[in-house]
Amino acid sequence: MSLFNVYPLNPIAITKAAGSRVWDNKGQEYLDMYGGHAVISIGHTQPHWVKRIEDQLHAIAFYSNSVVMPIQEELATALNNISGKKDFQLFLCNSGAEANENALKLASFHTGRKKIVSFKKGFHGRTSLAVAATDNPSIVAPVNETDNIVFLPFNDITALQKCFAEQGTSIAAVIIEGIQGVAGIYEADDAFLQAIRKCCDDFGAVYIADSVQCGYGRSGQFFAHDHAGVNADIYSMAKGMGNGFPIGGILIAPHIQAKFGMLGTTFGGNPLACAAALAVIEVMQQDHLIKAAEEKGTYLMNALKNTEGVKSVRGRGLMIGFEMEAGLEELRKVLLNDLKIFTGEAKPNVIRLLPSLAISIEDINLFLTGLNNAIQVLKQKKD
Ligand SMILES: Cc1ncc(COP(=O)(O)O)c(C=O)c1O
Repeated sequence: MSLFNVYPLNPIAITKAAGSRVWDNKGQEYLDMYGGHAVISIGHTQPHWVKRIEDQLHAIAFYSNSVVMPIQEELATALNNISGKKDFQLFLCNSGAEANENALKLASFHTGRKKIVSFKKGFHGRTSLAVAATDNPSIVAPVNETDNIVFLPFNDITALQKCFAEQGTSIAAVIIEGIQGVAGIYEADDAFLQAIRKCCDDFGAVYIADSVQCGYGRSGQFFAHDHAGVNADIYSMAKGMGNGFPIGGILIAPHIQAKFGMLGTTFGGNPLACAAALAVIEVMQQDHLIKAAEEKGTYLMNALKNTEGVKSVRGRGLMIGFEMEAGLEELRKVLLNDLKIFTGEAKPNVIRLLPSLAISIEDINLFLTGLNNAIQVLKQKKD
């Protein structure tokens, strides 16, 4: 049987990983500045994370959500502490799309309304409502098309306020990434997030902070939305949450009340996933990785700004995008094929860096040297 061919693949089979390094099946080593698409938060195969999962595997891997699970409660407490969202409630699922799907459904249940405000170029996942709220018609199947989503320009307070003035009483939720990832690393302005908070308060709508990619410490705060100094009503999380073990979840403000049967899942919150997520938080706290993300991100961004051939640099912490000057379109390929460095991309010409928050300064310097070399190689080819 063949695999369903939906991914344009690099012809590289990664079979081993540690920290910010991965190796292919021929033993070739690579530097991972991509973190498996922002998923690797504390480092590949981090020893405490491996042990926590191993120990849990020997105790119990799975039981359904029909029984009390102390490890879920332990995770909820750990999340309250690390996020600072003290009285928030936790619902666990398995992925980012599912987290947003549940967040949007919950907002609709809570308000009794149907309209969702979303933003141009945003990405929220591929399940039915999440994909409908994603501004990319090519991934929306006809069955997922709906008139319930309003797409507004990103960071445009006037358009937001106009939309609320016209239809605020039918708006269930506003969903927004703190830093747009797939779009190419665009930060939401603090004033914009504050305006969303105010509109939601004035009209009784739910503010959903999609923190699937920009959350979990990557920006230098636990949630990138925290930089704006206002709380959202629901935070969706996934990627960095399990460091590669599939887990997602939503943090839900205390004023939103649960009802039996409102949300549900078979696998969400299983003990193995909770063990992985607890290990991530424990390592983040012990090694001060959120502060490290801020410091190393600032170092990396400053260095990029002074790199010949780099046109612009965007982002916060270790969620960085940089645009290259014309003629350097092949840079990502040269980095991977010649210098053995994985990076991410955003069309048309942005390189995205989403490394582990535990990456060392030595590895960052290695990347910067590689980048300079790759730029020189391409410039020489051009001349
Ligand atoms: C901001 C954002 N939301 C949601 C998702 C969907 O997450 P998943 O692929 O785990 O469903 C992604 C994935 O890239 C994302 O970047």
